[in-house]
Amino acid sequence: MTNRILVTGGCGFVGRHLVSRLLRMGNEVVIVDDLSTGIDPNLWVHPQYEGKFTFYKMDSRDFLRTMAPTRFSDVYHLSAVVGGRLKIDRDPIAVAQDLAIDAEFFNWIIRSKCDRILYASSSAAYPVNLQGKTKHVKLKENMISFEGNMGVPDMTYGWSKLTGEFLATLAAKHYGTHIACVRPFSGYGEDQDKTYPVPAITQRAVNREDPLVIWGSGKQGRDFVHIEDCIDVMLLAIGKISDGSAVNISSGKLTTFLEVASLLATIAEYSPKLQVLTNMPQGVHARFGSVNKTKKILGWTPKISLKEGLKRVFDYANNNTPLMNMLFPEMISH
Ligand SMILES: NC(=O)c1ccc[n+]([C@@H]2O[C@H](COP(=O)([O-])OP(=O)(O)OC[C@H]3O[C@@H](n4cnc5c(N)ncnc54)[C@H](O)[C@@H]3O)[C@@H](O)[C@H]2O)c1
Repeated sequence: MTNRILVTGGCGFVGRHLVSRLLRMGNEVVIVDDLSTGIDPNLWVHPQYEGKFTFYKMDSRDFLRTMAPTRFSDVYHLSAVVGGRLKIDRDPIAVAQDLAIDAEFFNWIIRSKCDRILYASSSAAYPVNLQGKTKHVKLKENMISFEGNMGVPDMTYGWSKLTGEFLATLAAKHYGTHIACVRPFSGYGEDQDKTYPVPAITQRAVNREDPLVIWGSGKQGRDFVHIEDCIDVMLLAIGKISDGSAVNISSGKLTTFLEVASLLATIAEYSPKLQVLTNMPQGVHARFGSVNKTKKILGWTPKISLKEGLKRVFDYANNNTPLMNMLFPEMISH
């Protein structure tokens, strides 16, 4: 049976990879996106899938209030004001829109008769005092507990995701909603916007810039997960988690931005000087997550190493690969 699936924010970075995967799996997909940062799906969905997807270019709040039928099999809620570090740190009230987007969403799902829901939270929901220079730990899901003392998450973005997770547990407990949350760490991939560090540094390496510039001290570290691995977890989580609880999407490995830049320079086959810009925002010092719970519950571990993933990002930028060819490679090669 064909499933009818709703993806809010389906034209963004995660959304494009999710929608292309869902279409390839034989589903019918309804995409809602106001294109504030997303890309029109008519520019990246392969024509073979015409008639298999419907696109509403509108605010997801308006869609849910006025247009949405109450029945979808699955719903993936990705629409959010995200942006890179500059947006999170220097435009924090704009990011507070996420509270309104999520409030509308949760009010809709408790009334709707959808089978399964996935809420995209974030590793930014974790307490920042566990991610400092002097003290940082591998972040485990139970370090966020709505029954114990709460830590302070990362800026407005983290607060909104933490609130979303709390609402997910309430939706499950009080309304019987089948809902899962995921906390992606640093998802990266070929077509990510250049306001994010991996594609930004990659483009500099493609241009063979010397020095090769990195924001912050360069010693700040993240847990990088290729977007196709992230999609695997989302598809598994919506099936196996129903009580509103969350799993990490992480590799368990901490990699500094200096290491990312070095890897990219090696891929580009040149030896630039690495230059750090300490006046640019860098976020927390060290954010990385345990993979144990995700492995235990979903049987998942990442398939794409950072080296392999960065090579894909480099080749995509270096070869000027069209977006559709990257998202639907099997259609292009036949
Ligand atoms: N990419 C990551 O590594 C990562 C990490 C943690 C969490 N997440 C979460 O995953 C989700 C998707 O992230 P992304 O990286 O694809 O971001 P993105 O900015 O690329 O995508 C968000 C999409 O939502 C759309 N949008 C924004 N406001 C909207 C509104 N009011 N109505 C309809 N559409 C709207 C934008 O146009 C965009 O297409 C977000 O909820 C984000 O917080 C992503």
